[in-house]
Amino acid sequence: MARHLLNTCDLTTDDILSIVRQSHSYLVPARSNSDRAQDLAEALILEQPATLIVEQPATLVNRRIVLGFFEPSTRTRLSFETAAHRLGAQTVYFQPTGSSVEKGESLRETLMTIESMGFDAIVLRHSENGVPSAVASYTRMSVINAGEGTNAHPTQALLDASALIEKYGSLKGLRICIVGDILHSRVARSNADVFVRLGAEIALCGPPGLLPAGTLNASHVFDNIDDALRWANVINLLRIQRERIATADQPSVDEYRNRYALTAARLNAFPDVCVIHPGPVNEGVETDQAVLDSRQSLVHRQVTHGVAVRMAVLNHVLHSKF
Ligand code: CP
Repeated sequence: MARHLLNTCDLTTDDILSIVRQSHSYLVPARSNSDRAQDLAEALILEQPATLIVEQPATLVNRRIVLGFFEPSTRTRLSFETAAHRLGAQTVYFQPTGSSVEKGESLRETLMTIESMGFDAIVLRHSENGVPSAVASYTRMSVINAGEGTNAHPTQALLDASALIEKYGSLKGLRICIVGDILHSRVARSNADVFVRLGAEIALCGPPGLLPAGTLNASHVFDNIDDALRWANVINLLRIQRERIATADQPSVDEYRNRYALTAARLNAFPDVCVIHPGPVNEGVETDQAVLDSRQSLVHRQVTHGVAVRMAVLNHVLHSKF
């Protein structure tokens, strides 16, 4: 693995830990909620920005990165853009709407056109499996997979590992249960790979029709979230699309909530369990705002790690350090 990041499987465990270590070097350590409230209050009094990321040397000056998002995104796009700017790189955002893709231009010709404008790297999100590796076969740009169909979301797995290692020190022996629509989830595939290789034990939980054919190396499969909560240290929720569960062979939203949703009442019974979610959340389906706001939730800290991990990934890829 040199100049692309296509899948976590292409990374060694040392590569993963190196990225996490570099990510942590960009972060002010997380505090308790009360400490953070105090910090925020002091920051407001001093009129300082309440950023959790310290300033860094501009290691990517004169590097040009195109953010090619062929599918919607908030976190991944903005965090890559923020990461690139913090390291001194220039970015340009490309989306197919309003581009010559709408006149029928192919993906290959679109990307070769972008490459010809002198970009060093493309951060690429696409709904079709296989697109990032296909693009890597013909472009001179570094390709960073920012979410690929149902196949892979490598930087999500790296940032989730980074956030959990910050909290627990290591993933060794940690019990992480992935809950929801695992069948269609690129996050589940990448997270399972990274979590298991870093020493965690994983379990899956979801309706039978939303479980994958393979086990993703899980040691347990639960058919309700109460059993998952009794087993787990960490619940890794996934987004549930209403249209995927309101079909003939899937439970209704009400049935899903009864059996699989992480409500505040359920979480309150397990005060040591921590919650992660890649976002976006379908509130009122897999979980609720009260859970996201709870002290047991790492959801917003994950977003902060997203910027730091993407800084580390851009540095590694554009300096070909792995
Ligand atoms: N987790 C994630 O990929 O979120 P976005 O779709 O908002 O980028």
